[in-house]
Amino acid sequence: MENQRKCLIIPTKGVKEYRATVPKYINSHDIVLEIGFAWGTTTNLIAQYAKKVVGIDKGESYWTAVKTYPDLELYKLDGFRIDSVLDLGYDFNKIYIDISGCRSIFQVMKIVLMYKGAFRPELIVVKSTQLKRFVSECSLG
Ligand SMILES: C[S@@+](CC[C@H](N)C(=O)[O-])C[C@H]1O[C@@H](n2cnc3c(N)ncnc32)[C@H](O)[C@@H]1O
Repeated sequence: MENQRKCLIIPTKGVKEYRATVPKYINSHDIVLEIGFAWGTTTNLIAQYAKKVVGIDKGESYWTAVKTYPDLELYKLDGFRIDSVLDLGYDFNKIYIDISGCRSIFQVMKIVLMYKGAFRPELIVVKSTQLKRFVSECSLG
């Protein structure tokens, strides 16, 4: 049987909670992807803890982020086009997803499952109020 890496998925509400996971979960061996870096603040925070961080964002804030953080590896890419992300050639073991906290839970789950399947990371931190609420209402019975 294939040896699967167990993936911990942490839904967070709000940027403060999202960023607070960084010192707790990221360490100097990690190769991290952030999907949706906006102005690059969280990607820059991750860079202080990780071995490597790469950020992708499809929005125009990309241009500000590359000027603000010239040392970060940032790409203007759509996270749903995972082939372009795979083409970057990194084996990301931890993934941060923030494609806007008010996105529908279906879109959020779609991207979470897409990256979980493609990279088999050990951790996905996702900023989504709806997903956090849904998970808090779940029980194994
Ligand atoms: C709330 S902001 C991210 C804030 C950032 N993570 C931080 O902590 O400062 C959401 C970002 O997601 C980006 N975004 C939305 N859909 C995306 C997609 N499909 N692929 C890549 N980026 C996306 C937007 O362009 C926007 O910059």
